[in-house]
Amino acid sequence: MNTIASMFLRDERERCLSAFPAGSNGEFDFPPELTTIIERGEGAKVWDTDGVERYDFSMGWGSVLVGHANDRVVQAAMAQAKLGSNFACVNRRSLELAERIIEISPACDQVRFSASGTEATQYCGRIARAATGREKIIKFEGAYHGANDLGVTSLFPTGHCQFPTSERSCHGTTQEAAEQILIAPFNDLETTASIVHAQGEEIAAMIVEPFHRCIAPKEGFLQGLRQLCDQHGVVLIFDEVVTGFRLAYGGAQQYYGVIPDLVAYGKALGGGFPIGVFGGKRDLMQMVEEHRLNHEPYVWTASTLGGNPVSCAAAWAALDHLEQPGTYTALHSLGAYLRTGIKDVMQETGVSGQVIGDGPLAQFIFSPDPVVDYRSTRSGDRAKARRVQLGMIQRGIFLNPMGTKLYLSTAHTQEHCDAFHDAFRSTLLHDRFN
Ligand SMILES: Cc1ncc(COP(=O)(O)O)c(C=O)c1O
Repeated sequence: MNTIASMFLRDERERCLSAFPAGSNGEFDFPPELTTIIERGEGAKVWDTDGVERYDFSMGWGSVLVGHANDRVVQAAMAQAKLGSNFACVNRRSLELAERIIEISPACDQVRFSASGTEATQYCGRIARAATGREKIIKFEGAYHGANDLGVTSLFPTGHCQFPTSERSCHGTTQEAAEQILIAPFNDLETTASIVHAQGEEIAAMIVEPFHRCIAPKEGFLQGLRQLCDQHGVVLIFDEVVTGFRLAYGGAQQYYGVIPDLVAYGKALGGGFPIGVFGGKRDLMQMVEEHRLNHEPYVWTASTLGGNPVSCAAAWAALDHLEQPGTYTALHSLGAYLRTGIKDVMQETGVSGQVIGDGPLAQFIFSPDPVVDYRSTRSGDRAKARRVQLGMIQRGIFLNPMGTKLYLSTAHTQEHCDAFHDAFRSTLLHDRFN
């Protein structure tokens, strides 16, 4: 039988499990019977290839903040695609977008594009090392900065190591890489300071998700990090791949009022198209200037699809959409509505748990203890969370059953959140979780 014939004869789920390891392109981790193949999306909804319609609370892991198939974004991308889709050279669209990001982002005198957030954070780390001549980088336990060494080291640690020792959450990274990454607990300025005071001379950078996974920084924490970095000549990197253009138009920098030395963006900026950006002060960004090669400290950055005009045109349209008056007030009030409803359902059903988050981000955790960092997040009942998440998928809600955050978009409404609350209630009651 030829491949085409076999494609039509075999069940799509079976084909998916055969073509992709675990039937997924990474991280979704559905049990085989719930393997989902998406056919299309519109606004806040997705349809799978069985024709099942679901409200989407994953939104392309937050990359589609403007809603699926947003008309403005689609028009812009289509118009640009007709004029050429990639030149691997500065083009009208990438130049305009670079200038607009520099205007929005206080940290950026200059930027370069990549095709993903993973590349952007990796370049930030390298620039910091080149600029300081130091090798170590501090990250916060459990933080994700993409699929590079920085992102996957101590991503899902057992939590038994003493700070600042890291754990390798991903085989294939080297022991040497793990030793160069120091781990600090988020929201614990004292422990972080003790690490910086002890090893400051060797630390090139501190990278932080200003809103760590789905945990808000305590009052003064980010300001404290800024001061620590200034005292010790450490480059402060904000990973704004999630927070950028989402918590506020000016991202976490605007929202929390702290300006890093380098910043990485991705996700929401692209309106659902592949994008990454890294930027910072001119003296740091000069590390990537090609004339330095073989003469001065130099960081190689190159991304074949970085700055492609289709992604840049889509990003421009996404920014036009997000810049409209009232966008962030609406996103924040809808996020509060979603979180309050989740809390109410927990109370009503007698299930012990809590909901964390801010702006259009939320996460439910089955633990009564305050969640301030990775270890307190881990204290929640994760097996129960997974059962609930899978139950929600069966009740018309699309989300990532890895227990990561829920993402709202500008296409979501209270009605969608009500549907979420109903599915949540029904799952908790049906499965007798209390
Ligand atoms: C905070 C953060 N940084 C970086 C990344 C990596 O971005 P990408 O998947 O575009 O490489 C992610 C992805 O989820 C992220 O959440």
